[in-house]
Amino acid sequence: MVLTGAGISQESGLKTFRDEGGLWEGHRVEEVASPEAFRDNPELVYRFYNLRRAQLKDVKPNKAHMALAEYEKTNSNFLLVTQNVDDLHEKAGSRNILHMHGQLNRVRTRRGSKSYEWTHDLDIDSRIEAEPGEILRPDIVWFGEIPKYMEEVQEFLKDCELFVSIGTSGSVYPAAAFVEWAPKSCRKVELNLQESQVSHFFDENYFGKASEIVVSFFANL
Ligand code: OAD
Repeated sequence: MVLTGAGISQESGLKTFRDEGGLWEGHRVEEVASPEAFRDNPELVYRFYNLRRAQLKDVKPNKAHMALAEYEKTNSNFLLVTQNVDDLHEKAGSRNILHMHGQLNRVRTRRGSKSYEWTHDLDIDSRIEAEPGEILRPDIVWFGEIPKYMEEVQEFLKDCELFVSIGTSGSVYPAAAFVEWAPKSCRKVELNLQESQVSHFFDENYFGKASEIVVSFFANL
């Protein structure tokens, strides 16, 4: 299993969450990524995610995304779990992928869990044919909400032989705990720019830019 975070998309031009003094494009992440923020200031939240969604049209996968897609081609028992809401893994060709924090290119209603593809701007008046009376929101897992696919992740990790964590600060749970969910026998590898909050849980740590360390790690596997 590979777990990815914002660090893998950094070299494609997307900002990570916890750089620049904790601001994400000028906002504290809680200010725009919580049900409370959506309740109190939906326009800000819509605008913020509209910008993020529009940005996807201009960014391309980098060598690290490509290396994972390439690895998957020859290894069928492979699962990619990403905390990222961008579509760069798909653009690189990854297939067996779970977006545990949702996706920018999808929306859902406030109450329902069914998600729909949505590639343009979203606002309070946006509607979808399937649920015409419902206000739509980004299908993103916000602070205080439950990440998706946790049963699948736990099941896959049970007898996992290799767990690789890439470009994540290890500061958001439950993703930060996956390394502890993996069995003792599993080889646990961290590939990150610098030490993370959970570095000490891994058997091996390689520090550097994803485009370099991810490529060399998977080339030598
Ligand atoms: P963070 O911004 O917390 O961490 C990004 C990590 O990537 C840091 O440890 C950086 O050192 C590392 N990094 C930066 N550039 C890199 C590069 N070029 N190559 C390799 N590593 C690099 O992002 P996440 O850990 O993904 O949730 O954050 C986890 C979650 O917090 C996000 O999914 C998001 C946020 O709240 C939601 O939006 C629900």
